[in-house]
Amino acid sequence: MPPRKPTIGILTGGGDCPGLNAVIRAATKAAGRLGYECLGFLRGYEGLVEPVAYMPLTAQGTAGILLQGGTILGSTNKGRFSALVGENERVSIDPELLANAAATVRQLGVSGLICVGGDGSLAIAQQLHEHGIPVVGVPKTIDNDLGCTAFTFGFDSAVACATDALDRLHTTAASHERIMVLEVMGRHAGWIALHAGIAGGGDVILLPEIAWDFEHVCQKVLDREAEGKRFTLIVVAEGAHLPDGGLVHDGGQGERRQVKLGGIGEIVAREVARRLDREVRTVVLGHLQRGGVPTAFDRTLATQFGAHAVRLVHEGRFGEMVCYRPPRIESVPIAEAIQNLSTVDPHGSAVQAARALGIGFGDAADSSPFA
Ligand code: F6P
Repeated sequence: MPPRKPTIGILTGGGDCPGLNAVIRAATKAAGRLGYECLGFLRGYEGLVEPVAYMPLTAQGTAGILLQGGTILGSTNKGRFSALVGENERVSIDPELLANAAATVRQLGVSGLICVGGDGSLAIAQQLHEHGIPVVGVPKTIDNDLGCTAFTFGFDSAVACATDALDRLHTTAASHERIMVLEVMGRHAGWIALHAGIAGGGDVILLPEIAWDFEHVCQKVLDREAEGKRFTLIVVAEGAHLPDGGLVHDGGQGERRQVKLGGIGEIVAREVARRLDREVRTVVLGHLQRGGVPTAFDRTLATQFGAHAVRLVHEGRFGEMVCYRPPRIESVPIAEAIQNLSTVDPHGSAVQAARALGIGFGDAADSSPFA
């Protein structure tokens, strides 16, 4: 019998995003060229423990998935391997589960496990690493809120989707002289709202990072009307705080889960309609942002991440996470990346450029272009 080839395992954890399959394909191809076999564990970390579930990954079997949304391996952000229940609140994984996962990795002869995930899934990867499992991390999230990397793949695709929605809302808003509110994802960070708001010609952008109030939002609508513009596009991140500081969510915090955000768009719409007596409509983009074909940028970034993750395994650099520090793909300790969320700088260049153009953020600085 020929000697068994060294094996690399891959899994995708947390909420899905466009580009996951591009990582799987890239890692499989790069690993194959170095003489590794690849296994894909199914349904995130669940595939590592009883009943263990995995599938062989080959260059042939992953052909054609570069442009497919979602993940062929499946994913989950709930259950036994949920590492987050709320911001800054991390939960330890049951040591027995960690031991089971370690046993699976040993029995299958996996010499490196590539864990693709957001902050929650990478926090689990860190725990596996501390338990002696040879782990390498790959950051993903449409929210772009992971520290130590300029971009995560999935973000550009989500922004493209939200921008397309704004383009469409623009024409109908203008035709009917209406105010349109678009609610986009962004739990801790307003990156999607900010970038789509700029790219899609939004007039007001409400973010978790900038405190806002209804007076300033309404004033922007009135200012536009005074300039003869009888419609307004408002973009709001689901994680933006209401003026009283509250978050809008479904009320429940399921077992070992984060609250399900959503609903702020409708609250903004109702209040603006009440105060100004104008017609306002709301669109919640929701999971449309997470599905579908990845953009060329996301495919390229995901491919580089997948290939670099294999390189880290090959060089034995476990406990590290691949990251993008333009123009280079590098790596940092996973522990460092999960400690630092990346949020919008209220004084950063994108916000400044938006303000310079007259885009409002619902605060007092709306009236001073280079605040
Ligand atoms: O973290 C990515 C994200 O898309 C958040 O923006 C959003 O709050 C969350 O996932 C939604 O998760 P679920 O699919 O579990 O509702």
